[in-house]
Amino acid sequence: MAQPLAVIVLAAGLGTRTKVALPKVLLPACGRTLLDSVLHTVQALRPSRTVVVVHHGKELVLKSLRDPDRITVVDQGEPKGTGHAVQVAVEALDGFVGDVLVVYGDVPLVRAETLNNLLLYRGSGAASILTSFDSPPTGMGRILRDGEGQVMGIREERDCSAQELEIEEFNAGFYCFDSVRLPPALDSLEAHNAQGELYLTDTVAWFLGAGEVVNAVSLDDPVEVSGVNTLEDLAFVRQVMQERIHLEHLGNGVIIEDPATTYIDHEVSIGANTRILPCTVIRSGVNIGVDCEIGPFSHLRMGTYIDDTAEIGNFVETKKSFVGKGTKAKHLSYLGDTTIGENANIGAGTITANYDGSRKHPTVIGDGAFIGSGTVLVAPSKMGARSKTGAGAIVTKNTAIPDDGVFVGVPARPIKARPEEKSGDQTGEAGE
Ligand code: UD1
Ligand code: CA
Repeated sequence: MAQPLAVIVLAAGLGTRTKVALPKVLLPACGRTLLDSVLHTVQALRPSRTVVVVHHGKELVLKSLRDPDRITVVDQGEPKGTGHAVQVAVEALDGFVGDVLVVYGDVPLVRAETLNNLLLYRGSGAASILTSFDSPPTGMGRILRDGEGQVMGIREERDCSAQELEIEEFNAGFYCFDSVRLPPALDSLEAHNAQGELYLTDTVAWFLGAGEVVNAVSLDDPVEVSGVNTLEDLAFVRQVMQERIHLEHLGNGVIIEDPATTYIDHEVSIGANTRILPCTVIRSGVNIGVDCEIGPFSHLRMGTYIDDTAEIGNFVETKKSFVGKGTKAKHLSYLGDTTIGENANIGAGTITANYDGSRKHPTVIGDGAFIGSGTVLVAPSKMGARSKTGAGAIVTKNTAIPDDGVFVGVPARPIKARPEEKSGDQTGEAGE
């Protein structure tokens, strides 16, 4: 029977080894902070309580939380080690009874199934720990076992003897504790170690000494428990995350021609049969329909909706914009705060000038509109259905081009369409 679950996420460390000002757990990977990735994963276990332990960069960490109502944030004060952090968190749990899962905010690739497994393995024991293998592990606590293979404890790397450093099994940094037996173990911690800290890992030997059972679950693949201590680690973790995101889209029928040069964040939806061409960047908060073509070299940002069969081509950047069915923006454009209807043709070099230096303004482009090359639409402005602009037109702000209207020049003024002339010649569209 599953018990109530509380999750404690440790995120108070400064992360000096990254050499960047940002608190380590706020480093970004695929559109989420490391902490956000961890929180996403643990939410899948439906915990009744989630406590995040913070200190360094506390305000920034608080501000970054997507779901602050579901999370208790506690300030550890000056961090005195992972054991101290859990002591502070347990106080905040205030009489909670059940499983207590402890995870670190800088180990973002762990899968929910792995954590579930860890919970199951505790059984009736006082705790379970997750271990993995690497040769040689660097910076990791080593798992000490006796002649029969029973776990005896965890030794931090800096406290290891030369012989212990040879041990390939390491502590992955994930623990499940029985809430009732955890507090006395935390009370027993002492800082007699190389770093002068209270190590959470010392609870393991204490439990065993008290005659309790601690179960170790080992994971064959160390990638899932890779921690981030440096920017090199971050680059590695990001790449693994990116591969997972790609695999999900590929599995959904999205054609990604060259995954190696395609960047897709979390929180992106793409319909089946859409082709993503090389060197394309798709940020969080983008939705793309079916049968579209994106790229090469497109940059789709937050709040972009691309409806079915639309095409976005090279050097086109979109932000907070809706692109209607069948519309094409194939070359060299910026579309920001823009709503475009169906089957419009956004000519090469079209720019929506949405920012006046202090505020952003919207642009609306109607169904079937045909925008000539190099047009600048100064927002707020509007183009009616089937309206056109000539090449190089500057449509000044507050202009509303009526349905079927044709505007040309600088500043753009209406002209009457001459029936004998083909509109393509007038508007000067480059490419197709
Ligand atoms: C820790 C483990 C080590 C394990 C490794 C796996 C301990 C003592 N050691 O080492 O056995 O192999 O993780 O990644 O636990 N933190 C706090 N408050 C503190 C100290 C740390 O919140 O007072 C947070 C940090 O922000 C970080 C996490 O806890 O997110 C781990 O701390 P860190 O100092 O990086 O431990 P490691 O040396 O990696
Ligand atoms: Ca670490």
